[in-house]
Amino acid sequence: MTTASESESESESESDTWTVATAPGALPVAGHALQLRKGLLAFFAGLPAHGDLVQIRIGPSRAFVVCHPDLLRQVLLDDRTFDKGGFVWGRVRQTLGNGLAACPHRDHRWQRRLLQPAFSRDRLRGYTPAMTEQISVLTDRWRDGEVIDVPAQMHTLTSQATLRTLLTADCVAPAAATVVETLPVFLHGIYRQMLMPTHLHRLPTPANRRFNQGNTRLHAAVSDAVRAYRQVADQHGDQPEDLLSVLLAGRDQDDRPLTDAQICDQVITMLIAGIETAASTLAWALHLLATHEHIQQRLYTETSAVLGNRPATWDDLPRLELTGHILTETLRLYPAAWILTRVTSTDTELAGHPLPAGATLVCSPYLIQRRADAFPNPERFDPDRWRADHTPRPPRHAYVPFGAGARQCIGDNFTMTLASLALATISARWRLDPTTSAPVRCSAAATLQPQSLRLRLHQRSPLPIS
Ligand code: HEM
Repeated sequence: MTTASESESESESESDTWTVATAPGALPVAGHALQLRKGLLAFFAGLPAHGDLVQIRIGPSRAFVVCHPDLLRQVLLDDRTFDKGGFVWGRVRQTLGNGLAACPHRDHRWQRRLLQPAFSRDRLRGYTPAMTEQISVLTDRWRDGEVIDVPAQMHTLTSQATLRTLLTADCVAPAAATVVETLPVFLHGIYRQMLMPTHLHRLPTPANRRFNQGNTRLHAAVSDAVRAYRQVADQHGDQPEDLLSVLLAGRDQDDRPLTDAQICDQVITMLIAGIETAASTLAWALHLLATHEHIQQRLYTETSAVLGNRPATWDDLPRLELTGHILTETLRLYPAAWILTRVTSTDTELAGHPLPAGATLVCSPYLIQRRADAFPNPERFDPDRWRADHTPRPPRHAYVPFGAGARQCIGDNFTMTLASLALATISARWRLDPTTSAPVRCSAAATLQPQSLRLRLHQRSPLPIS
């Protein structure tokens, strides 16, 4: 029978199959806070060495980190028992309201049913001309020899592409500009606040003030957009088919139309969940290409053959196989949503260990996807491990960059489509070179971001068609 020790020293116990342990090195008051501050990702990546379910402590708060892929699936697939909550989703809910990503299980099903049509395959195909256009708008400005700030450029691309697809009406444009501007401040602030005790959120520190101002501006901008959209829709009837049209026509679980505040929560949720995650994935993919010249060259061979010198479109996607594998592998190494939390809604057990209602669980795609038993040579960037003929086949259950179960990312196909179009278009026209031999650092905040990533662009000419 397993019992995780409450003591601070390392303890380990085994049931038939699982080991449950407490992470070593906790300090009397701070717990593991110091280790987390020193190297968040290294700390998490080291936890599977101690057990399948590992208890950590940050100050007075305790949490169980789920370190085995089978346990992770168990948690993610049972969203009634392991509900949204904990330090990530608790703070997000306080700030963003009860939107699709943060809402508890009881409010989830009707919201998901309501929003799913905005991400259907037909809608997705309809979004792609706007995605292609935004990719061209950005990359047409690039010049041979120029050095670009990759995360900033990708943020511009994914925010414009998301806004031009999900919030398309002209009347939304002024609000969209404010959203793009405020989002980084907001994301940075929300991450800081996730990690601090609640009573500190209200202190008038410069960082808290910046966050509160950003939050107020973001909500005001989206509220304005919703009001403007409603007015235009009332006067002129039909509006473009996008997220706002789905929300305006939608009903809640009691068959009432959604209030402006509810619509606003959903829109901000999508922007927060979708823009930075996609931007960081693309930034990492470009970094990995720049540092793996032979893979960059193979990708160029693929994209040049499919596209020549034109931007990628929906119809090209089936032929962009390596492009897809590169993105899949990028998301394995750098899953943007690298940490997810859950709270038990009732007394339960996991890995044979009893958990009381209210226990916090931490799930990290980053940790799971770097397990050597699931992905041999886990630190290696190897897009070919995703080829259909590769043996051994990578275990799908250990690959969870979009989560799993009922709470799986609603924007997974949206983001893979946008990222594939962007990566292919960029690769067909540009070679990317690092500007320094210093390794790029990974900062683990709300998403995993490459720090100070600058790449030099070299314009390509299309390869002759063979
Ligand atoms: C590379 C890009 C992305 C990554 C890595 C990502 C990752 C994730 C993950 C891991 C979850 C599950 C969270 C959990 O279980 O706690 C999730 C949920 C979600 N994502 Fe994404 N996401 C991405 C892009 C997007 C986009 C583009 C959108 C929308 C435009 C979006 C909207 C959402 C929403 C609304 C949820 C909550 C779904 C629900 O609970 O039903 N995401 N995402």
